[in-house]
Amino acid sequence: PSGRVSLTVNGKRHTITVDNRTSLLDLLREHLGLTGSKKGCNAGACGACTVLVDGRRVNSCLTLAVRLEGAEVTTVEGLAPGGEDGELHPLQAAFVEQDAFQCGYCTPGQIMSGVGCIQEGHTGSAEEIREWMSGNICRCGCYVKIVRAVEQTAR
Ligand code: FES
Repeated sequence: PSGRVSLTVNGKRHTITVDNRTSLLDLLREHLGLTGSKKGCNAGACGACTVLVDGRRVNSCLTLAVRLEGAEVTTVEGLAPGGEDGELHPLQAAFVEQDAFQCGYCTPGQIMSGVGCIQEGHTGSAEEIREWMSGNICRCGCYVKIVRAVEQTAR
C-alpha cells in the first residue's frame, strides 16, 4: 500500500505518493535527489542519516515518510544560508577549520546532529557534547575535532 504525504523540505513544499514502508531517508535520497544524508547502517545505529524534523534530530532511516504530513524537514543541503555555492553554516565552517573529518561519510549526519545539539543547549562541556552526539559514529575517529567544532560554534 502507498500513501500521499505533503511535507516541507529545506523550505520547499512537496506532495509525494510513496510506499508506506518508505523511510524519510529513501524519500530524500531517491525521490527528491537529496543525497547529502547518508545511509550507513539503515538501522538507527550510526547517525549518518540524521536530519531535523520540526527542529528535532531524527534518524531518517527509522522514520516513515508517510507519517510526516505537514512536517518541516531540514537536511544538510538546506543548512547553508547561501545555498549550494554560498556561505557555509557556522558549524560547517567550524568543521573545515577544525579539520573534523577524514573520509567525510558521517559528516552530514554529524553536522545535523551538532546543529540539533546546539539548538537543544547541550553544549555546556565537551563531555556533554560527546554524550548528546553519541548516536553519531565516526569510523575515522575524529571525535575530538568534531566536539571542538561544536564547542566553537556554540560559543
Ligand atoms: Fe540511519 Fe545509520 S543509516 S542510523
